[in-house]
Amino acid sequence: MSRLREAARRVGTFDMNDIRKALLGALLLLAAWPAQAQPADPLARGRYLVESIAGCGNCHTPKGPQGDLPGLALAGGQVFDEQPFRAVASNITPDPDTGIGRWTDAQIARAIREGIRPDGRIIGPPMPIELYRGISDNDLAAMVAYLRSVPPVRHAVPASEYRMPLPPAYGPPVAHVPDPPANDPVARGAYLAGPVGHCIECHTPMVEGGRRDWSRTGAGGQPFPGPWGTSVARNITPDHEHGIGAWSDAQIIRAVAEGVSADGRPLFPPMGFSYYARISPADLRDLIAYLRSLRPIP
Ligand code: HEC
Ligand code: HEC
Repeated sequence: MSRLREAARRVGTFDMNDIRKALLGALLLLAAWPAQAQPADPLARGRYLVESIAGCGNCHTPKGPQGDLPGLALAGGQVFDEQPFRAVASNITPDPDTGIGRWTDAQIARAIREGIRPDGRIIGPPMPIELYRGISDNDLAAMVAYLRSVPPVRHAVPASEYRMPLPPAYGPPVAHVPDPPANDPVARGAYLAGPVGHCIECHTPMVEGGRRDWSRTGAGGQPFPGPWGTSVARNITPDHEHGIGAWSDAQIIRAVAEGVSADGRPLFPPMGFSYYARISPADLRDLIAYLRSLRPIP
């Protein structure tokens, strides 16, 4: 009888330890949650994405010599005068007449991820739709929630002129895009540098016909003329001589978030340093893991 009681007591103790372990595990999981997965608040997530790594305002907020023009956040008007087009960034504030205030959530989502407006007109370059097709359903919904919440700005902008045919669509309708796996830094970094941040768009060379040469992802070389002169997208592959292979994590972070190269040289636009300054430490870490995983290209 006493042995039975003893056994029962042992089982009981064992259970208690197990429960403690399980509780501790759950607590640790919860602690890791905000950095790893979708936070419960889509509006906060949308604000974070649009105002940091996605940097929509880098194109959609008009600039003066001092940077963003006050009172015109996301109100459009910045001109991209590159042959063969003269594109004007749209007003994406919820103003009903000059912005997207009359669009439904689904219509805004389709415009961002598929480049098709409610009236069927296609959105042209330089909006990086081909990459935005990979924005996850959750992040897309979060971005839409945030765009709906920003102050409406009445600001009519002229239409873009494309002296080239735009495609009828950028691909078949996008049905479902899952979030990247939370426990895979390289995959998360690839998602941030691609679909969300379009780093690799600017940093991958073009081939004939305006297509990117994805076999040379990150190799740089594209020129960006502007009031600053002409900046050339750098090689951000881990090549030791021509890329950033010899850089420390801190040097990469300084370049991305502060616009200062490893040798101390200030970097020129169009990279959106002021937006990237708001990228979270966890996302910077994953971006670096991804950049370091690229094939080194001399
Ligand atoms: C590299 C510059 C660039 C970036 C980055 C960019 N856009 Fe755009 N976007 C444009 C341009 C230019 C147009 C207008 C193109 C045209 O006239 O066909 C546009 C059009 C749009 C439209 C259509 C609005 C309308 O009234 O027709 C929406 C919505 C939009 N962008 C949302 C976004 C969001 C959200 C982001 C960030 C996730 C973003 N854009 C990032 C350049 C950009
Ligand atoms: C709109 C185009 C554009 C986008 C988007 C962009 N970059 Fe850049 N990037 C450039 C250009 C151009 C330079 C070179 C600027 C100069 O030399 O003054 C540069 C420079 C850099 C450098 C410094 C390299 C060196 O040798 O000094 C790093 C690192 C970098 N980019 C990483 C990134 C990452 C990471 C992202 C995404 C979060 C990103 N870039 C998004 C255009 C872009």
